[in-house]
Amino acid sequence: MALFLPLSEARAEGAGDIAVLITGVSTVVIMMLLLFIVFVMNADVAPMTRLLATLRNRFWTGAYTEQKIGVDHDFDGITELDNRIPPWFNYLFYGSVVFGIGYFIHFHVLGGTLSAGEYEQQMAAAAIERRVVLANEGSIDENNIAVLTAADALANGEGNYQKYCVSCHAKDGGGIVGPNLTDQYWIHGGGVKDVYGIIKNGVAAKGMISWQLVFTPKQMQELASYVLTLQGTKPLAPKKAEGELFVVKADSLKK
Ligand code: HEC
Repeated sequence: MALFLPLSEARAEGAGDIAVLITGVSTVVIMMLLLFIVFVMNADVAPMTRLLATLRNRFWTGAYTEQKIGVDHDFDGITELDNRIPPWFNYLFYGSVVFGIGYFIHFHVLGGTLSAGEYEQQMAAAAIERRVVLANEGSIDENNIAVLTAADALANGEGNYQKYCVSCHAKDGGGIVGPNLTDQYWIHGGGVKDVYGIIKNGVAAKGMISWQLVFTPKQMQELASYVLTLQGTKPLAPKKAEGELFVVKADSLKK
């Protein structure tokens, strides 16, 4: 998971919990209502229908009888009448006034955080998080990185690859906008240091993003290691080779 984009994802997860809760509660309520109608009311829904109709007339549409109060507009026999406004429309209006007062007090009197402030808070939190990570992992960089071979490290790399890289490099590394990562031809070199460096710094002019604000050094190491496992695999629709044949030197793939 990208460490520096945590808030939107955390929100999405929280929203998922609430959706499950709402679905669960409403299912139970509907079930109980059905049981009540069948067993307590003997499926006689007439009283309930009457009740609902009364409520609707009272609070929603208003007992609608067209009133013949003319407003003196007559266009070729088509007249305009002054009928009452349905209650639901008024509730919207009153509601927005009440909401507006609450909003004003919360944000402009009591100093609630506006979206610009929220953005700054999130950026500050992310900056702290980033400093913590760099303190732990900052020693990993393109000069000293080694290939990881542990299964869980490669699985992490694959997870992030499938989430962030496939739109340009394809699921199997065959390449789309970005080059084929499975062949031995590399534009920027095929050693782990080269691959790590490209992931970290990107090639902005060519559309390869710099990922160092999205991933931690460790995550980029996992990604680079995973990318190198694609070497020699057979993608479905390989893009033709770009760059130069990379000859593995003794230290370029050091474990
Ligand atoms: C928006 C499209 C895009 C995305 C997303 C993308 N790449 Fe790239 N990538 C490119 C392009 C384009 C190049 C070629 C750059 C060049 O020509 O210099 C490239 C080049 C590379 C290279 C160097 C290949 C070589 O031949 O030297 C590596 C390694 C790489 N990408 C890895 C990744 C990884 C890992 C991810 C996901 C974290 C990723 N890319 C996401 C577009 C993308």
